Amino acid sequence: MKGSHLLLAATLAALAAPAAAVQGDAEAAKAKLSMCIGCHGIPGYRTSFPDVYAVPKLGGQHSEYLVSALQAYRSGERSHPTMRGIAGGLSEQDMADVAAYYAAGAAATASNPPANDKAQVCAACHGADGNSPTPMFPRIAGQNEDYLYQALQDYKAGRRKNPIMAAQVETLSRKDMQALAAWFSSQQGLFVKR
Ligand code: HEC
Ligand code: HEC
Repeated sequence: MKGSHLLLAATLAALAAPAAAVQGDAEAAKAKLSMCIGCHGIPGYRTSFPDVYAVPKLGGQHSEYLVSALQAYRSGERSHPTMRGIAGGLSEQDMADVAAYYAAGAAATASNPPANDKAQVCAACHGADGNSPTPMFPRIAGQNEDYLYQALQDYKAGRRKNPIMAAQVETLSRKDMQALAAWFSSQQGLFVKR
């Protein structure tokens, strides 16, 4: 018990550490987005490799989280092959720029209360309706339902490695994960940005 608390504390401290001081420029991003819009700019677009699910919405996502996600693909912490290839070709500046572009235009946080006890636990970090107020905790409100479900399964199976989320999904059943994905995706928040 003590060990896992220490791990959580260390992880939170690492998350809270200031990101490298690369300032994102949403205007400069526009020249770099041609590589992204074919997938992230098409509502409901699904990839077929290696699994079939809708590509995540990036519009309105926290820029800090977007940069950390791209870094996780580059480092191999996240394994999706296409995104690993794409992130591997981006500089720190490119990542900051595209993150600034996608983050702009975030929806105001609604005040819907969490759906049930399970969603109440998630709300501590992701916000009551999934519009997380904390930059390192991704918004999940309005995200594609099958992407959310896939992400939860990936944490559970260890295909996506994150100590905080691994602990969260430990006791969730498939049915729980389906219900949580359905509820958070039905909230207003993230959007498809071209
Ligand atoms: C061939 C389709 C495709 C292209 C092109 C593509 N992506 Fe992705 N992207 C995906 C898929 C599929 C995922 C979800 C992968 C996973 O499950 O980890 C993803 C995930 C992401 C994530 C993580 C989102 C989250 O909520 O964790 C970010 C950030 C991202 N992409 C940014 C970009 C950027 C920036 C570009 C252009 C430079 C780009 N992508 C190009 C398909 C694509
Ligand atoms: C202690 C804080 C915390 C709690 C509680 C928490 N999360 Fe998370 N969640 C995170 C962090 C941090 C990440 C980013 C991890 C990463 O980079 O992979 C995340 C990522 C996610 C993602 C992936 C989002 C994306 O865009 O790829 C989903 C889905 C998610 N959480 C759902 C949930 C659900 C459902 C619950 C409740 C059962 C929950 N979380 C509880 C902190 C938390």
